[in-house]
Amino acid sequence: MTNEKNNSLVIGLFGFGVVGQGLYQVLQDVQTANATIKSICVKQKEKLRSLPQHLFTFEPDDLLNDKDINLIVELIDDADAAYQIVKRALLNGKSVVSGNKKMLAHHLDELIEIQKDNSVALLYDASACGSIPVIRNLEEYYDNDLLQSITGILNGSSNFILSRIFQDNWSYADALKHAQELGFAESNPTFDVDGYDSMYKLVILALHGFGTLVDPADVFHYGISTISDHDIRYATEKGRKIKLVAQVTKINGRRFSLFVLPKLITPEEYIYNVEDEYNGVIIEGQFYDKQFMFGKGAGAFPTGSAVLSDITAQKHHYRYEYKKLNFFDPPVVTRNINLEVYLRYHDLLDLSHFDFESISEKYAGPDYHYVIGKIKLETLYNLKNLIRKLNVFIAWTGKLDIND
Ligand code: HSE
Repeated sequence: MTNEKNNSLVIGLFGFGVVGQGLYQVLQDVQTANATIKSICVKQKEKLRSLPQHLFTFEPDDLLNDKDINLIVELIDDADAAYQIVKRALLNGKSVVSGNKKMLAHHLDELIEIQKDNSVALLYDASACGSIPVIRNLEEYYDNDLLQSITGILNGSSNFILSRIFQDNWSYADALKHAQELGFAESNPTFDVDGYDSMYKLVILALHGFGTLVDPADVFHYGISTISDHDIRYATEKGRKIKLVAQVTKINGRRFSLFVLPKLITPEEYIYNVEDEYNGVIIEGQFYDKQFMFGKGAGAFPTGSAVLSDITAQKHHYRYEYKKLNFFDPPVVTRNINLEVYLRYHDLLDLSHFDFESISEKYAGPDYHYVIGKIKLETLYNLKNLIRKLNVFIAWTGKLDIND
């Protein structure tokens, strides 16, 4: 019998960016983890490193074929390279911790099968909401059919930007630059501000919450990159803030909808006071109403801590059971819902693309115009490529009608 107390983990780490360095530091400070990083595989050969050179390699095989390494931790931002590394490691019989939400959202169906066939585990709580243990909670506590919706601020960078704009009157450009300097943003910040990052995280949460893996291409996501002073003034005058919100909602038992949109938040909502790089997740269920999880969603140490938690979970042989996928009748995704939105526009031609079901308010001023109206999620989805080219900004008012 192996002695659990001496069962040490020898880690092969891929990537030494913000989170990789955060993890290294966290591991130095935690005496009880009994996990050591043996080798780190990085891409940029010229980059000056803060650790001795002998710890680094540029060759993935040095880690993947090393018999001493019993855990691969993948923290790189290239989703395609991450997929190859994770897949090969699992096929090689090594368990993996990954933080790559894009890679996971695109490949979890295959990676779940590989885990099963090779008796290895892939853990990725660090991929969604940084330090908030949302995935493991969905797996373990919400493992019944009562869950109705998950709504949250899942992207720290865009929340940080919106806090600077609303609280400190910063410009969008300055706030984004600062989010990048603090290491919150992805290497391509479009991922953060246009809602891709929130959408990939939402796909992962929907899998663990409802049991269905949705193709990311099927999810409507829209971000904050076209927000203007008009929109900020409109929200402020109405006593609201704008936050980038991701939501997955069960509809009539057998269906569910998911989307990412800026939302006009009222002071009564739990996420109204979620500021800076914090994330907040509201879980709503039949009989228990609402619960709220809150914590830092980005940054070296919060995310490094989440990776450590996945590492120590591996030590105790924890693995996701995908209970909703395996033991429930997973619901089917639908876009047949109506959302009430605020649409700011300047040109009538831009407005003409939006086929509203109904309009309840119209404003036409000297500088800008807006309408408030109900629009099908399907209609927004069909416009998803065009919207990004128009001079408009869209925010959800929070009202949602179910058509199915
Ligand atoms: N860029 C991400 C964010 C990092 O801002 O939330 C954490 O996933």
